[in-house]
Amino acid sequence: MTQIDPITGLEVVDHDSIDDAMQPEDTPELRALYEGFEAEHLMPLWTQIDDLMPMYPSPKAVPHVWKWSSLYPLARKSGDLVPVGRGGERRAIGLANPGLDGRAYISPTLWCAIQYLGPKETAPEHRHSQNAFRFVVEGEGVWTVVNGDPVRMSRGDFLLTPGWNFHGHHNETDQPMAWIDGLDIPFSQQNDVGFFEFGSERVTDYATPRYSRGERLWCHPGLRPLSGLQRTVSSPIGAYRWEYTDRALTEQLLLEEEGVPATVEQGHAAVRYVNPTTGGDVMPTIRAEFHRLRAGTETPTRHDVGSQVFQVFEGTGSVVLDGTERELERGDIFVVPSWVPWSLRAEGQFDLFAFSDAPIIERLHFNRTLIEGDNR
Ligand SMILES: [Fe+2]
Repeated sequence: MTQIDPITGLEVVDHDSIDDAMQPEDTPELRALYEGFEAEHLMPLWTQIDDLMPMYPSPKAVPHVWKWSSLYPLARKSGDLVPVGRGGERRAIGLANPGLDGRAYISPTLWCAIQYLGPKETAPEHRHSQNAFRFVVEGEGVWTVVNGDPVRMSRGDFLLTPGWNFHGHHNETDQPMAWIDGLDIPFSQQNDVGFFEFGSERVTDYATPRYSRGERLWCHPGLRPLSGLQRTVSSPIGAYRWEYTDRALTEQLLLEEEGVPATVEQGHAAVRYVNPTTGGDVMPTIRAEFHRLRAGTETPTRHDVGSQVFQVFEGTGSVVLDGTERELERGDIFVVPSWVPWSLRAEGQFDLFAFSDAPIIERLHFNRTLIEGDNR
């Protein structure tokens, strides 16, 4: 019987319906042929096309929510038991997608970890090919030193450590601090492109300036220094401050109230963090955005190619992941694997930080989005 996809309205033809007709008859000669394949490390396409070339993306990664109320106490306990320093380098605990065989991958391309730094601790300097960022959901008092430039970390800030920049962190206070790290470690590991180098055991500059040198040079609205006209692969900005993100989102919603086109959809303000030398993504492998939903806003159900990770910054609401609704509160993190349908519902005003592998997917022209109910 012909099946019609309820979303696309197109006839569904899958491998299963034609598989049987394509499979050869099981004979001694065929078995001998398959043994010959195996002996020569060969595998025929016709026995595994479902896995290798599915009709649409069918990720092994599964949608999942991690509760901050569970993550943070475990990170704090790690602070009591596990030293930070040379060798282990970071007290970072990776969020392991339950569908990815126990690896600390939140998706096939992305790493997300909670990192915890105790009072007065220093995480030594190192550098690696992998691109990294930090997002701070709570706390302050840590400076991350990137290529010798001390960068203050405070709630709501988005901080960059692009690949091959030396970086270490130090906590100047008597209080611990935790934040999330996002990296392209799985992509790097699976494609064997990573290099790593140790740096100073201590950070190279213990100064605690309010603004880093990179911000002082680059973070003036609409202005580009003439000393920096060349395009750089990653953004030269070390920290995107919450005050600017918050103001941009606030103004989008105010403009919407005034009838000016400003939001991505009714009640949904959003910004992307960009590299000011290109206008494109902040780093070659990771896209980062911030979304704010007005109370009561529901977004349409989407399917996107690629992996996306969200962290609730403030407010309450829920995410519907593959048809299952999950309540969310401050600090909660969830992953949307490729093509899994998802939508958001805001109870009160709902603020979410988001990151994805979109720069990889788009550069390779694999990007596709389906918005249910949208016939464009
Ligand atoms: Fe690192």
